Amino acid sequence: MSAGDSMVKRNYKLGVVGAGYVGLTTASAFADLGYRVICYDSDKNKIELLRRGKSHIYEPGIEELIQKNYGKTLFFSDSPAEVYSESDVIFVCVGTPSLPDGRPDLSYIEACAIEISKYLNGYKLIVEKSTVPIRTAEWIERTIKLYNPSADFDIASNPEFLREGTAIRDFFKPDRIVIGMSSERAKKILLEIYNEKDFVCPKVVTDVKTAEVIKHASNSFLALKISYINMIADFCEKVGVDVDKVAEGIGLDKRIGTAFLKAGIGWGGSCFPKDVKAFIKMGEEVQVDFSLLKVAHDINERRIAVILDKIKKALWVVKGKVIAIWGLAFKPDTDDIREAPALKIISELLKEGAKLNLYDPKAMENTKQIFPESESIRYAENLEKSVTGAHAIVIATEWGEFKSADLRKIRELMITPIIIDGRNIFEPAKVRELGYLYFPIGKP
Ligand SMILES: NC(=O)c1ccc[n+]([C@@H]2O[C@H](COP(=O)([O-])OP(=O)(O)OC[C@H]3O[C@@H](n4cnc5c(N)ncnc54)[C@H](O)[C@@H]3O)[C@@H](O)[C@H]2O)c1
Repeated sequence: MSAGDSMVKRNYKLGVVGAGYVGLTTASAFADLGYRVICYDSDKNKIELLRRGKSHIYEPGIEELIQKNYGKTLFFSDSPAEVYSESDVIFVCVGTPSLPDGRPDLSYIEACAIEISKYLNGYKLIVEKSTVPIRTAEWIERTIKLYNPSADFDIASNPEFLREGTAIRDFFKPDRIVIGMSSERAKKILLEIYNEKDFVCPKVVTDVKTAEVIKHASNSFLALKISYINMIADFCEKVGVDVDKVAEGIGLDKRIGTAFLKAGIGWGGSCFPKDVKAFIKMGEEVQVDFSLLKVAHDINERRIAVILDKIKKALWVVKGKVIAIWGLAFKPDTDDIREAPALKIISELLKEGAKLNLYDPKAMENTKQIFPESESIRYAENLEKSVTGAHAIVIATEWGEFKSADLRKIRELMITPIIIDGRNIFEPAKVRELGYLYFPIGKP
């Protein structure tokens, strides 16, 4: 974690719009560097909670940063007038979820642009941090000018690459920072904010459109990599080879790298599914063949069928069986369940008539909004309770707590010792030695 450097002048007052995973991290981290930051969200309940030092999202270290800086450099507001008129630089971090046809819903971005146009009082730099399709900056500019022809502002693109679960570390120590801007004034401001003392990493300085493309091209490539290893996993399983060994052998080639080569039940979360779909749409709009991404997307969709097939093979009859689902969040160290594979697995198992004991260290409250407790769904207080009387465990998220579970004790609590591991967190030989029937992904 970084602390403000007194040698770096904090010349600008910052505004952050949207207090979600990206906005809250951006606001608290810049405040920690010594900037005066107003973080605005249109959801008054979130602002109320944040003013009491509590975060509505789980992100390691975020509450500590909020509590350390709130009232000193960090302020929370539910007033657009306040954030837009009192900030020099405005970071737009609102959501851009998928529409049913795969295009991103830009209505939150437009709403921001309209609000900004009302409260501009002097020059402002508006920075897109949300993930948006190419030419969104042009639309924001057009919208602001339409509502306020005399507005004085620049728009820059500064796509965010943080990962939930390590968001604060990623903010302070990014691999690179991408800055796309259309004026020298905007460039000067952003390079001052992302100065060499605070952010020791390469800076990719480019035009706005290029920066917008970088974000989608980057996320799509990572998603491709995961789908690639999942395709290899299916092959390995058929030919009796261990995909994790294959991934190690591939990844140690520096041209490839080991990251994002973990076979499993596919990508989820609020970014990859929506960003890949959005990029495919962008390709279609300019008649460029993005079928490579379509295949990656289809491979990912089929991961749920792969794990369901394993569950059925493991249990034979699913109806009436009690299955403990370990992990609901789309990845460990977050409470985010957007597009989490676990949700699709739960839906399918309910259709088959299973009874489910759900457990996740952080994501159970969010999951209850989608799957309330019922005759078929129970939320367990801990791992032990989740497996008591269970016929099988399905691992959907690779939380550290699961990796260190006492499998001997767990086995005694289960009716039948079966583990279907969608994240390959255990060593097959060791688990089988303990008497489990163990079904990992992409292994003999
Ligand atoms: N979550 C990630 O890991 C991540 C990483 C990189 C980029 N991104 C991108 O960043 C953007 C934000 O993602 P997120 O996960 O933080 O979303 P989020 O849903 O957690 O947060 C968005 C926030 O914006 C608020 N909001 C919506 N409209 C508003 C308005 N007009 N004015 C003020 N507040 C408004 C919402 O109430 C919400 O709190 C998305 O485009 C996403 O693709 C996300």
